[in-house]
Amino acid sequence: MCGIVGYAGEKSSAPILIKGLKALEYRGYDSAGLATVEQDNIEIVKSVGKVAVLEEETLKHNLKGITGIAHTRWATHGKPTTLNSHPHSDCTGDIVVVHNGIIENYKTLKEDLLSRNHKFISDTDTEVIAHLLEEKLNNVNDNLEDNFLKAVVEVTSILEGSYALGVLWKKVPNTIIGTRVKSPLVCGVGENENFLGSDISAFIEFTNKAIYLNDEDFIVIKKDEIKIYDKLLHEKYFNVIELDINAENSGKNGYEHYMLKEINEQPFTVRSTIEEVLKDINHAFGITKEELKNIKNIMMIGCGTAYHATMVAKYWIEEFCNIPCQAEYASEYKYRQVAMPDETLAIFVSQSGETADTVAALEKARAAGFKTVSICNVFASTLARMSDYTFYTKCGSEISVASTKAFTAQLAALFSLAVLIADAVGNISSDKKDELLNELAKLPVAIEAAVAQDKNITKLAEKYYKQSTFVFLGRNVNYPIALEGALKLKEITYLQAEGFPAGEIKHGPIALLNAEMPVISIMPGDKLFDKMVNACEEVMARGAKSIAITDEKGFKLLEGRVEEAVILPNVEEYLFPFLSVIALQIFAYRIAKLNNREIDQPRNLAKSVTVE
Ligand code: M6R
Repeated sequence: MCGIVGYAGEKSSAPILIKGLKALEYRGYDSAGLATVEQDNIEIVKSVGKVAVLEEETLKHNLKGITGIAHTRWATHGKPTTLNSHPHSDCTGDIVVVHNGIIENYKTLKEDLLSRNHKFISDTDTEVIAHLLEEKLNNVNDNLEDNFLKAVVEVTSILEGSYALGVLWKKVPNTIIGTRVKSPLVCGVGENENFLGSDISAFIEFTNKAIYLNDEDFIVIKKDEIKIYDKLLHEKYFNVIELDINAENSGKNGYEHYMLKEINEQPFTVRSTIEEVLKDINHAFGITKEELKNIKNIMMIGCGTAYHATMVAKYWIEEFCNIPCQAEYASEYKYRQVAMPDETLAIFVSQSGETADTVAALEKARAAGFKTVSICNVFASTLARMSDYTFYTKCGSEISVASTKAFTAQLAALFSLAVLIADAVGNISSDKKDELLNELAKLPVAIEAAVAQDKNITKLAEKYYKQSTFVFLGRNVNYPIALEGALKLKEITYLQAEGFPAGEIKHGPIALLNAEMPVISIMPGDKLFDKMVNACEEVMARGAKSIAITDEKGFKLLEGRVEEAVILPNVEEYLFPFLSVIALQIFAYRIAKLNNREIDQPRNLAKSVTVE
């Protein structure tokens, strides 16, 4: 994880680096630091906590350097302390490095360096890189730039793991060298200024021109020159992409938290995503009906909330397409012996498109020769660039660490893809296809009504926010929503929350229940309603509090057989997850707020998990 920024230009670099770090803070926020170089002086400022703390600290130093690198950290090796914050230096302090990723062989490298009398001040894996560079550059006094580049190439050739690096060397003061392996790195191209960033948000305020780096590219950045080399030091041709986005309105628009803003944006983000698909569903995903026609097996892969979206889609795909379909955690898929049947379509879902586990799983699927389709929210992200086809959800930036609007947009995309596949394999008639898509197109109105339940859900939260354990139950498409409701709650409240298939509680989880414990059942008035009522009865028989997330139809059928109910509009039963998840997002948000939690940046988490 972690975010890195670099600036080479004519202006004082520190304020620009701080802006970049603020935009990248979603990648980690336990400590931050920056280094600027002015003539032959490198100054480093670091602090524990958010970028705002670093900003204050930096103001005290009056940094003048016009070239600099900076870092916001999500700790992997070593606690979040000032000493462990990046940038890290060598023994002389002439070389500084910022790093996103993990150097897996750092222990051996560190032992070797210690035996050669290098002094380490941090517990990080990153510090070895600075000391290894020192050994290459120690006595270098000519061909400085060439030797700097050569040193970075040679040092990275012995690193194992993943890294995006930004490096400064005092002797080449107006130059940043960057490189990457399995961690994202982008260069921003400006007028008399160029940038480096973990993603475009690091510099989008200054330029919308970007160069996406590939693994083992080495980029040399000055204010008026950019060169890219391969590991044999051959200069490479590169493309500058003009991004179709200007600095987005990334403020909170009057909402107290990004999470609340993003929950409220869902009628629009789902609508935009549906409109994008329905413009031309046959071409929306890139993959043609001809290619889909012979698909015999579907794999869907994601992490966290994105994984829950694939779990919902599994129900849709098997129902509409009659094709075996699995949803799997990327981190599990990558490291197990998986069956690799022919004619498999592999679908990857990720808001950021940078999640290391998902990227690793995609590599495996590609190696198996599967056709790969990604559903991402971030343009030109690693996953998008590696997949055969990509569909971009139309969410705009999702800033809150807890994912909300990306999830419902992923559902909209996956539902449409399920219908497209069903049509391509001939499992549904064209009337049925139209009917399914019409129901989807009507959803945004119902989503507005779900968002408007905030007041009722707040009352519920006020009643239960002091409880320490919450249980969520669902069946069929609503079972993954029980998991997502629990994930959302634990992420931002730090309370224990468990999601189960309702039919499973009697097989063990019911032992958890005690008097007063809130058990939230997702139970629209559908074909499984009676089964859900049975689960509620079992819950109430143990004295626990039964709360229903239902629809108008279900509410009538309930006849008071639960303690509380949140009533959502009637939609086709396979679409209820779009609504029930919003109720649970609001529930988690309100409980977190009543408990005074740090909602947008919960402890220990990062928005984009770029380490495996
Ligand atoms: O960017 P991605 O969608 O690949 O991220 C996957 C998970 O890390 C993410 O959904 C995580 O679980 C969220 N914090 C959930 O709110």
